[in-house]
Amino acid sequence: MEDQAADAAIYERFVNPAWSNIVRSTGLDMKPVRASGSWLYMEDGRKILDFVTGYGAMPLGHNPFALLERFSSDLQTLLPNLNPLGISADAGELAKKLIELAGIVDGKVYFGNGGVDAVEAALKFSMVHTGRTGIVTIEGGFHGLSLTATWLAGSDFWRRDLPAPPAQFKQSPLGDTDSIGSLLANNDVAAVLLEPVQGTAGARVWKQCDLMKVADLCAKHGTVLIFDEILCGIARTGHWFAYQTLDVPAPQIVLISKALTGGIFPVSAVLMQDAIYRSVFARDSAAKIHGATFSGNRLGMRCGSHVLSLLHELDICSNVQIRGEYLKLGIDRLGSKLGFSCEGIGLARSIHAMPECVHRFGDDVAVQLWHALLTRNVLTIPAAHDLTSVRLLPPLNVTADEVDLFLRIFDDVLQDLFSEEGAA
Ligand SMILES: Cc1ncc(COP(=O)(O)O)c(C=O)c1O
Repeated sequence: MEDQAADAAIYERFVNPAWSNIVRSTGLDMKPVRASGSWLYMEDGRKILDFVTGYGAMPLGHNPFALLERFSSDLQTLLPNLNPLGISADAGELAKKLIELAGIVDGKVYFGNGGVDAVEAALKFSMVHTGRTGIVTIEGGFHGLSLTATWLAGSDFWRRDLPAPPAQFKQSPLGDTDSIGSLLANNDVAAVLLEPVQGTAGARVWKQCDLMKVADLCAKHGTVLIFDEILCGIARTGHWFAYQTLDVPAPQIVLISKALTGGIFPVSAVLMQDAIYRSVFARDSAAKIHGATFSGNRLGMRCGSHVLSLLHELDICSNVQIRGEYLKLGIDRLGSKLGFSCEGIGLARSIHAMPECVHRFGDDVAVQLWHALLTRNVLTIPAAHDLTSVRLLPPLNVTADEVDLFLRIFDDVLQDLFSEEGAA
């Protein structure tokens, strides 16, 4: 416990005291002494079921032994991690696997350092490819917190004290294909950037027919369609990519990160059709026109390849489909009487308070639910772009017992807090 106080003091002094205050008020300032799979083991003896797992970046949970074991052999070599003036078969191998899984004919991959890095690259590539500057995003969306990505966010929350987004950045409501059609009509939009499943808005899923219409509109107006699958890609929805779950073709650009490297290494990837690649890189003196110092570093590439192999060996997509459906059925069965529903797909889920539920239990009903789960040692996260939802991002290898435990605790919370007696 003394260590705990010392850790808190040094963090507060040198990192982010405002965050410390929030964490302390929730009781999460206690140090985890161990983390394994879906579980955080705290210094005070609590064992917390982690249904956030690094904002969805840990498909195999905390410290997955098989991944660490394979990865540790990569740490034992004397091969260079960075060799920017050479070529990397490790990058080639990971790229090949990703392009095959994505089903992009003759596709190419740019590797970046994290989600927002991929978003920035995709916008830049789209502008170079089209010679245009317009960007359309979707209300409720989230694409990271670089300056540009902050302007693209589907909520003003992140833009406090910043100038308004440049005029060429426009937004449409999710699913409103008429609005997207009119935003594209002048043929001045470089890209439509959207998440097939919006995470920060509480697992809002596009309908297949609307995504197909957006793809047609983009094709008609010469606009690049970018799917941001940084959260919903890599099997989270029950297929390798969310657009496969939703049964729509691959767009010109797909972005992935988070789960790609199992929560161990920050790596992102821009998967693109060859035409985009050629517009950007296959010009005179342009082969390195975009990049980053750590782009394609060996350890990151090896880690990505190990994660894909492990997910494949575990038949993780089936686990996601089965557990995801069971979780949904359980939440709907227990919560529907009180006006809670389970949204999302696969293991990109949220518990959503419907209007009658908000009316009955208050505007902060989602925060009440989140807090009640936390006091019963279950970690979830309120949806920043939808104050009526609590997000659930369990690891993709979550077990049936863990989902059952979650449902039992959810039921307890409903009885204690939200039943007639509890609410009285
Ligand atoms: C859909 C989506 N895009 C982009 C990002 C940004 O990724 P990063 O935080 O790695 O920059 C996030 C992060 O949560 C995300 O959920």
